Amino acid sequence: MRRLLPGPPVELDPFDAYQDQPDRWLRVGMALSVDGSVTDRQGWTDGLGGEADRRVFRALRAVSDGILVGATTIRTGRVGPHRLPEELRARRAAIGKPAPAPVIVVTRSLRLDWSHRLFTEAASPTIVITCADAMPGWPPGTAAHPLVAGGTEVDLPEAVRRLRTEHGLGQLLCEGGPVLATAMTAAGLVDELCLTIAPALIGAGHHTRPFGHLDRRPDLTLTALYESDGVIFSRYRLLRSGEVQD
Ligand SMILES: NC(=O)c1ccc[n+]([C@@H]2O[C@H](COP(=O)([O-])OP(=O)(O)OC[C@H]3O[C@@H](n4cnc5c(N)ncnc54)[C@H](OP(=O)(O)O)[C@@H]3O)[C@@H](O)[C@H]2O)c1
Repeated sequence: MRRLLPGPPVELDPFDAYQDQPDRWLRVGMALSVDGSVTDRQGWTDGLGGEADRRVFRALRAVSDGILVGATTIRTGRVGPHRLPEELRARRAAIGKPAPAPVIVVTRSLRLDWSHRLFTEAASPTIVITCADAMPGWPPGTAAHPLVAGGTEVDLPEAVRRLRTEHGLGQLLCEGGPVLATAMTAAGLVDELCLTIAPALIGAGHHTRPFGHLDRRPDLTLTALYESDGVIFSRYRLLRSGEVQD
């Protein structure tokens, strides 16, 4: 892919481009159509960015310690355990990440299909973030690991803190969907937004906005822009209140 900003333009490999994150970092990585929908006409994302998006999607996963996903996206049945082609696996190992990143499901309800391969075949066991009130519904015998944060609701800041301190997962990628991405942003947990803009118009129907209601809108600074096969990859730094960019 080509880096357009910061200039001058240069050819860049997606893995190299996205491995520049600090030790403790939380990225939201999502793909949108030109008219701002995170779903295609089938209600999924496959029709959006094509192979160029898949390359960046794999690179974002490859440089991450854990992959956060909302339960509704998991319930589509299309999110499997983290698997990488051999070449990316070797490069991931070379930056000190020998094991695949666990998928980390966020759910208040625990209403999940526990027979799905995400919970039965993951090389790095899937972590399920939930709250204490939901735990009577935890299925016996599952290979997934619970992370209980909060009593009646999920305490996201507490969950992220413990992913880092108890599980050693410093560099986190949140793949959405919009409800989880909004909750993460509203809680002030997001450091960077990596948005793929696919050359597609969805129009009304299956159009889904990437974010819902935000009480406070964080300041965004564009830090990089890449292009590959007509797909635009933008990166925005989110500044917390009182934080000054280097
Ligand atoms: N284009 C893209 O990059 C992209 C990426 C991902 C998903 N998608 C699409 O987005 C759609 C799904 O997105 P969505 O926004 O409806 O759902 P979502 O964010 O995937 O999941 C929402 C669910 O996650 C759990 N959750 C989220 N925030 C929580 C919090 N603060 N506390 C407790 N639980 C929380 C809840 O699960 P429970 O209901 O179990 O309590 C909630 O109902 C799908 O169509 C998917 O294809 C697109």
